[in-house]
Formats: sequence, C-alpha cells, structure tokens
Amino acid sequence: MQQYNFDEIIPRKGTGCVKHDALELFFGRDDLMPMWVADMDFRTPDFIMEALRRRCEHEVLGYAMAEDGYWQAVWQWLKKHYSIDCGREELHFIPGIVAGISFVMQAMTQPGEGMLVTTPVYPPFLNLPQNGHRQVVCSPLQVVDGRFAIDFEDLEWRARQCRWMVLSNPHNPGGTVWGEEVLRKVADICYRNNVNVISDEIHADMTLPGHRHVSFSTVSQHAKDISITFMAPSKTFNMAGLGSSVCYCPNESLRKRFFGYLDGYEVAGGNIFAFVGAEAAFAHGEEWLRQMLQYLEGNVEFLRNWLEKKMPAVKAVLPEASYLAWLDFTALGKSHEELKDALINRARVALNDGTTFGGKDYRCCFRINLGCPRAVLEECLDRICAAVMQC
Ligand SMILES: Cc1ncc(COP(=O)(O)O)c(C=O)c1O
Repeated sequence: MQQYNFDEIIPRKGTGCVKHDALELFFGRDDLMPMWVADMDFRTPDFIMEALRRRCEHEVLGYAMAEDGYWQAVWQWLKKHYSIDCGREELHFIPGIVAGISFVMQAMTQPGEGMLVTTPVYPPFLNLPQNGHRQVVCSPLQVVDGRFAIDFEDLEWRARQCRWMVLSNPHNPGGTVWGEEVLRKVADICYRNNVNVISDEIHADMTLPGHRHVSFSTVSQHAKDISITFMAPSKTFNMAGLGSSVCYCPNESLRKRFFGYLDGYEVAGGNIFAFVGAEAAFAHGEEWLRQMLQYLEGNVEFLRNWLEKKMPAVKAVLPEASYLAWLDFTALGKSHEELKDALINRARVALNDGTTFGGKDYRCCFRINLGCPRAVLEECLDRICAAVMQC
C-alpha cells in the first residue's frame, strides 16, 4: 500500500496561491509563515494530478459537461459516507460553496430579511448577507469543555427574525462536529420558525478519527424538508483552486426555485478540471484521506500538548473535524493591537484575526490552520510563544 508523505515541505510561493502570495496585501508584509487561508500545504493527491494530466493530453479544452462517471462518483461518496441516497435530479454542480450561499441568498431571500448564523463563524457567512443588504442575525456560540456549543434558547429567539440560517457543519472555526441530537434541535427550531437552512458541509469529509459527521438533512424529515446542503472535495483533497462543489436539495419546491435560478441565470456551469478532479477524488480518495486524517490528528495532538506545556493560559477549541483551531489569548491580558503586532511583526506568522469571525467579542482570538507539515507547525507555535510572551 502506498504510504503518503505529509512531512514534505513544498514551496508554494510564486504559484499564485492566496495563502502564500497574498500576505503583503492582507498583512502588510511578505515574510510571514502562512497559517491562515483554509487550504493545506500537502501535495494534492497523485490520483487527482494524474487524472488532470491525462485530460491535458487531449489538447482541446472546450466547454465541459459533468458526465456519468462524475455523477456516479459523487452519488457513491454521499451514499457511503453520509447515508444520502438521492436521485440525480436532487443534485446540482456548484462552482464553489461561497458562491452557492450567495446564489441561495439571491434566489431565495429579499433585501432586509434576516439570515441567521452562529458566531464566531467563517467570515463570508457574515459578509455575503451584509453586502447583499440582508440582516445578519448572530447567535453567539458558547465554549463548553473546549468545544463550541449552541445556545438553543438564544437561537430560537433569533430564528423568529429570520428566513434562512447558514450553518457550518462541522463548524469553522474550531472544527466542532455537531452531533445528531444538536442538529435535530436546530432543525426543529428552524422548522417551527419557518426558517430554511443552508448546511455547509465542506469540512465533513475531514472528520477526525473518533468523531462522526452527521449530514444535516438526514437527522429528521423536518431537516430534509427545509435544507440545502453543500459538499465538496475541495478542502478534503486540497483542490480548492479547481472550484468544484455539489449541492443536494431533497425538497422539490425549494429545488425548483434554487436549481431554476442556477440554470436560468447560468451561474453554476463547471469547468473541465472541476469535473475531472472531483471524479478522481471521490472515486479513488479513501486511502489517501485515511492517511491524511491520521496526520492531521497528529497535528491536533501536537497543538494540544504544546498548549498544555508552553501556553496553558491560551484556551483553544481544537478541531474534531478539519484543521482550523481557534485560539483565545484573552487570559494574557493583551489588547487586540498588541496581540496582532506580536503575531505579525515579532512571530512573523499569519493567523486569521478573530474579529473577522463576528466582531469585537473575538478581539483576543485567532484562527490557526494546522494543515501543514508538523515541522512547520512546530516552528510557528514556538515563534508565537516567544513573541506573545514578550509583548
Ligand atoms: C465553512 C466553509 N465554507 C466554504 C468555504 C469555501 O468554499 P469554496 O472555496 O467552495 O467557496 C470554506 C473555506 O474555508 C469554509 O471553511
């Protein structure tokens, strides 16, 4: 059996990748260890690269369509991993999940309407509705025993002001895996209050050993009736640059409106590499994914031990899925500006600023991306410790 090497450090600078090449633009300097944008510094798997190369051997890159092989691979993956056994008509290709959320917003909501999110959350969940003149309604999560927890009373109260909820399942940041019971409660609250749910499950495939992802639509008939689910091989197999996602919508009336919008406005066509890459990923990805998750689990453990030994005052939400940990430096008693300055100008590391995940309540929090070789993570953490302790 092939053993994949996740310790290899692969230089990415100069490849036009946001994570390594947009540092100057976002942080004001270029000499930072990039631990921010959510892709991994691991090699995209060989079976995907080979499929892309094979396709490139045919030297006509005309308009592409999703063929049976693509749909079979998607369908089998959803059925095997998430017990979603659906008809072809319930699926639609989507060029990206952020775009997908934006399409739902444009197709199914009106300016001024409320969109419910649980904060802290992946920034586009806040920015898209804001930019679209919808009202962002935030239900703050609590940290209980080192993982995020939903305050259901608060959620119910806020749901009354909304028509849609955008749920990160599993959660970004922090990688909390929502259990079946939690999702059922969310579905009941939303159903009672006439709120439909976008379940963004982009991180689902990367649920770490010992945890189980539950797809929102499968927890109850109510959940199935009110939801649109987005999935993708993009994070899982480190191919986010291909723009390849898929949408599952079991409710016929929602589907008619949403897929009608996608087709009517022609906003969800794919490209050659999105189809070829996704088919290869879903058809051949099991073993690579198993090994990659084992490595990620090691990185999470590394961070857990490092925090315990070197910075016990920093409270963390460590991922149960994916590679995005949430670090809370509040107990160090430093200001937002002091922390940012220490991280950027002394540690020279690029982390995501907590305020972008839901405002000033998160001014002492930062998100760190653990999807990198362990030696890189170790150096980054040592730099953070040295810099933050001095500031
Ligand atoms: C929860 C979540 N949704 C969506 C995305 C981005 O999806 P896409 O690249 O398909 O737009 C990310 C990327 O970090 C994410 O964490």
